[in-house]
Amino acid sequence: MSKTKVVSESLTIMTEMIFPNDTNTLGNLMGGNLMRMMDVVGAICAQKHCNRIVVTASVDNVSFKQSVPLGSVVTLQAKVTRAFNSSMEVVIDVWAENIPAQQRVSTNKAFFTFVAVDQSGRPIDVPQAIPETAEEKEYYEGALRRRQLRLVLAGRLPASEASELKALFDIQ
Ligand SMILES: CC(C)(COP(=O)(O)OP(=O)(O)OC[C@H]1O[C@@H](n2cnc3c(N)ncnc32)[C@H](O)[C@@H]1OP(=O)(O)O)[C@@H](O)C(=O)NCCC(=O)NCCS
Repeated sequence: MSKTKVVSESLTIMTEMIFPNDTNTLGNLMGGNLMRMMDVVGAICAQKHCNRIVVTASVDNVSFKQSVPLGSVVTLQAKVTRAFNSSMEVVIDVWAENIPAQQRVSTNKAFFTFVAVDQSGRPIDVPQAIPETAEEKEYYEGALRRRQLRLVLAGRLPASEASELKALFDIQ
């Protein structure tokens, strides 16, 4: 398997129309249904990067900036920001479009972490992700800090070992 892959190789875009089954009683897309779509597009992107089975390890904070009415067309874009050992951080951007009105709004952005596993569910190493554009490089740079923060919050990393967070929280 290749030891590196450029970020653009695994870019994944999914487009869905919002039907009555997807909505809440106000006729807007249910948050949980949107999160399911985000999980699917993110997992496809992570699979494309590593050519392995992946599982969702964590989802960072998801905010719902804007309701998405019935009949909207939702576009989700997933990109690997950085790969570590077996884990990959994927950023997912979501836009909702009212095509007849020619309106398109950004509704969500979230970072998901996927872990590549073997047939027995054990973590397995993945290729490194090489950023090329200025935006990809910015995401790459911030990924270690976000990883440490989520691992501290998950109780998997002592705060004292979170080198990237020392400046943020003034940890001695
Ligand atoms: C994710 C999972 C494979 C990690 O297994 P583990 O035995 O804890 O393995 P490790 O401690 O070696 O961690 C493996 C990687 O997962 C990452 N990881 C584990 N928990 C994490 C979390 N909460 N957030 C982010 N990354 C996490 C580790 O940082 C590590 O990354 P690295 O290899 O790039 O350094 C395991 O916890 C699992 O299978 N969870 C269930 C996944 C699932 O079913 N998801 C769908 C939920 S419905």
